[in-house]
Amino acid sequence: MTRTLIPVSLFQMSLVGKSLIDLNSLDKTTAHSLFDLALQIELKGWQKVYSEIPKLIALVFLEPSTRTTTSFEMAALRSGHKVVNLLGDSSSIRKGETLLDTLLTLNAMGPDLIVVRHGLNERLADIDRRLSSPVISAGEGVSGHPTQGLLDAYTILKERGKIEGEKVLMVGDVAHSRVAASNMELLNNLGAEVAVCGPEEWYPSQGATHTFLSLKEALEWCSVCMALRIQKERHIGTDETSYKKLVSSYQLNSLSLRALRKDGIIMHPGPFNRGVELTDEVLEDARLRIWHQVKNGVFIRGAVIAKVLGVV
Ligand code: CP
Repeated sequence: MTRTLIPVSLFQMSLVGKSLIDLNSLDKTTAHSLFDLALQIELKGWQKVYSEIPKLIALVFLEPSTRTTTSFEMAALRSGHKVVNLLGDSSSIRKGETLLDTLLTLNAMGPDLIVVRHGLNERLADIDRRLSSPVISAGEGVSGHPTQGLLDAYTILKERGKIEGEKVLMVGDVAHSRVAASNMELLNNLGAEVAVCGPEEWYPSQGATHTFLSLKEALEWCSVCMALRIQKERHIGTDETSYKKLVSSYQLNSLSLRALRKDGIIMHPGPFNRGVELTDEVLEDARLRIWHQVKNGVFIRGAVIAKVLGVV
């Protein structure tokens, strides 16, 4: 059986049996149908929304994760599905098996859905064509993290009341962030303005309409400020002195955040490094929405699972 990735459409599309690997072609109506379903799950409870017999979901996490792995598992279990976990340390990838062959092996066992995080030099979009089970990317290299993009947009919608016209600023290491890549894909589609702030070498090749070298000017401009972790594991040749300089210029702290409007919000996809991209006092700031993002992640992942399995 061959399946397609999510196609471009002006109307709400069915996600049943489709893979979710990027957000480029997720249209506005379908994105909002996911936000609506996430809200229904949150307001009515999991049992009222889900009505089908349990499905079997394989969670394949070949890179470290706290939020994504547990929220996918909690969303699956809350909605009555069963889960099998394959973690990097315990998989035969350590013995030299490729991602393609690992996923072909799991696919042969017949799961209803495969959720994958990996940082290998293989692309889910290529592998997906070989599988009969749909695939949801749970973060792939630097290319994308679609459910994080969805939960971030959902958080902006809930906390700011709208997405269209919002001025979303990404601060820091945008070029190496798969979260930033998915956020830019979706937020541009949904009508937000996207800016980046940081040193020029951390600007993305596309997706941002404004760039700021000055953090103060950037914070004065935005309604949503999203800090990003410095992705040291993806840098080659940057020394500690350079990192310290960057942190001092682009850190969110009580002083820099004076420039952010009172009704603005502060986000971070996590994991965050206290004292690096943000300080202790920022984590106590009334404008902080990090824990809202984490909570919303369970509902959004529940909504994506339900739509792909076709159980609502
Ligand atoms: N935001 C995110 O993907 O966090 P984890 O790496 O903890 O899953």
